[in-house]
Order: sequence, then C-alpha cells, then structure tokens
Amino acid sequence: MDKKVLLIIGGGIAAYKCLELIRQLKARHIGVRVIMTKAAEEFVTPLSVASLSGEKVFNDLFSLTDETEMGHIELSRSADLVVVAPATADLLAKMAVGIANDLATTTLLATNKPVLIAPAMNVRMWEHVATRRNLATLQADGIHVVGPNEGDMACGEFGFGRMAEPLEIVSAIEKFFRSSKLLAGKHVLITAGPTREPIDPVRYISNHSSGKQGYALAKAALDMGATVTLVSGQVELKAPSGVKLIKVETADQMLAACVDLKNIDLAICAAAVADWKVENPAGQKMKKDAKATPPSISFAANPDILKTLSTAKTGRAKLVVGFAAETENVVQNAQEKLKRKGCDMIIANDVSEGVFGTNKNQVHVVTTTTVEPWPALNKSEVATRILELCATLLK
Ligand code: CTP
Repeated sequence: MDKKVLLIIGGGIAAYKCLELIRQLKARHIGVRVIMTKAAEEFVTPLSVASLSGEKVFNDLFSLTDETEMGHIELSRSADLVVVAPATADLLAKMAVGIANDLATTTLLATNKPVLIAPAMNVRMWEHVATRRNLATLQADGIHVVGPNEGDMACGEFGFGRMAEPLEIVSAIEKFFRSSKLLAGKHVLITAGPTREPIDPVRYISNHSSGKQGYALAKAALDMGATVTLVSGQVELKAPSGVKLIKVETADQMLAACVDLKNIDLAICAAAVADWKVENPAGQKMKKDAKATPPSISFAANPDILKTLSTAKTGRAKLVVGFAAETENVVQNAQEKLKRKGCDMIIANDVSEGVFGTNKNQVHVVTTTTVEPWPALNKSEVATRILELCATLLK
C-alpha cells in the first residue's frame, strides 16, 4: 500500500504499544513518520521509534534544523492520515479547543488531513464530563476514533480507557484507506442548512436547521475522495477545507445553484428548505401604523429542490438522496415522500426528539424496497454510513 501515516505519540503508558503499531504498519508498506510529545519520551525513546520507523523522529517545535528540513506545516500535510496514539485526555482537550503549544498540537491544528485518534487514559478520566464533551466536539469535527477498550489498566483500575491494540488500530487505518477511495472520481452535491425567506429587508422566515448533518456529509464525502460541492443556507459552521462552498439565502437561490451544476454523480438534499416564501416581500422595512396592526402576509410555494433534481429529464445525478424530517409515522411518511419526490433513497429522522442542533441522529434508511433502522449515531458516523451505502449503490 502506497500510503503514509503521520503518527503522533502522546504521553501515556500505552505509548509502548506504538512500537508494535509502527512495526505492523511498516510490514504493510504503510510509511510512518512520527512526532513525539515531551511526555511520550518519558515512556518510549525516540531512538526505538526511529529505529522501527526508519525515519527521523520530530519532537521540537522550535528546532531550527527540523524547520529548515521539514517545517511543521509541511509535516502536517505530508501524510494521508494523521494518527494520534495514545490520545491522552490532555491531547483530546487541546485538540477540542485548538490549543497549539508544542509540535504535536501545532501540527494537529495546522493539518488539513483526516485525523484518527486512539484514546487511552484512566477510566475516571475517560468518563469525566470534560472528556465526554471534548470527544463529542472532536467527533462532530469529523475526527475518527478507534477504541478505547474495556479491561485492566496500568493504574490497577478496571474499565474503559485501555488503548486499542496495535492490530485494531492498523485495521482502522486500513479501513480508512479503503474508504478514502470509495468515491474517488465522483462529484457529490450536498444541500445543507436552513433557507431564509425574506419578509422585508430586515426580517425573514426560517427554521431550526443547524446544517450539522449536511456539513458532516460534505466532510465524509471529501474523506472518501469525492469532489464535493456544498450548497448551504446560512449556518454557523465552517465548511471543511477542500469543499466547494456556495452560500445561499433563499430556496430559489439554492435551486438555481444546484441546477447550475453539471455531471453530478450523487446528490444529497440535507437542507431544510422552507416550503413557502413570502409572496411579495416588502422592498423597505415594514413600519407599524398608528395602531400597530399586525400585517397579514401571503405565501407562495417554494420550488422543491429534491423533486426537481430527482425528476430532471436530462443530467439527473445517478443517485439522488433526500432526508425526511418527521414528527410522527416516520417510516410511512418517508415511504410516501420517496414516491412523491422520485428520489432513490430517503434518510428519515424523527425530529420530535430534538435532533436540530445536536450532534446525534437516529435514522431509518428507506428505499423503494427496503427499510433499515439504524441505531442512534453521531452525525459524522451517520454521514460516513450513508456515503458508504451510496458508494456501493453507485457501483
Ligand atoms: N426539500 C427540498 N425542497 C423543498 C422542500 C424539501 O429539496 N422545497 C428536500 C429536503 O432537503 C429533504 C426532503 O426534501 O431532503 C424532505 O424535506 P421535508 O421538509 O422533510 O419534507 P417536505 O417536502 O417539506 O414535506 P412535508 O413538509 O410535507 O413533510
């Protein structure tokens, strides 16, 4: 395999397992370059690491020699995947907030490559609310996680926190590399976020969509090697670098941006498009009359983007996927929606239980012939699974 891993070894007792990890990766012809934190050097020596990896070990942010040979920015971009093992509680916390105070954390902040972490820590630290919060943030950011396992710990306690075994980490790396090619050469269109329908220049009608699921799909598609265009309503999120972002406000603008695109293989409509727009938005701010009588607003139907893309006579994407936000009869409504819209698959979710703005999603995958309930998963895991499924169907 002609792939390269940048391994960041954190300061935990599990660091010793990294020697075997390096050996196993090299045996599979996966290149390994290593950064060690100062704390990691308390557990394994750079000499052992260098001997096994066959490469110089990097550990100093302020090394003039290292910076001239291979600057930390170049280091952060030189691999196909960054692996953090052991990912200590301290490293997770720094990654979650973007602290960059040594070579390892600076590299993690500067990288534009996918990151896989193998957490390892004492069970109480793993269960601590701060670690839970940091992990949720990292997963929402699209960081991949392997382990930890349950078992006896070096500190004498028992529970979750043991780093995944080297072969488990190798499997996760190999799985990642396999999936990184799943959508190579494919152009994926994703709509995300809410639309805003103006009432007048200062007011609009919108909805609670955060855009998180759509942005997670964009990130996952990118990780699988696709060319990704993300047509997004106004959200608080930053688009993953490498994605072509088209920002829009209204449903009409969203439709125009979508139909403009050519040669789309896969279109996923995750946007929460307003069904109605204000028929005649006022050109100037609407003012109160003397009695402050509330205005009456009349609505007009918005275009249905999913339906338009699904029923396009020419240039239809090979696969069109929609979402269904439902508060009751989830599966039945999704099946009807699938027929009505003419798309190939509906990802149905029950939004009565507070999906908007959260990081979790529990969906049913509905096609013309199947209904598959998925467990509650992180939105980035839902995204990966949807795209793996789409990649199989595109074949
Ligand atoms: N959708 C769209 N354009 C619209 C309305 C919805 O592209 N004008 C897409 C959404 O992106 C989603 C799917 O259609 O993929 C279903 O959206 P949803 O709001 O659940 O359904 P609606 O079509 O609005 O139907 P209803 O309001 O009756 O549930």
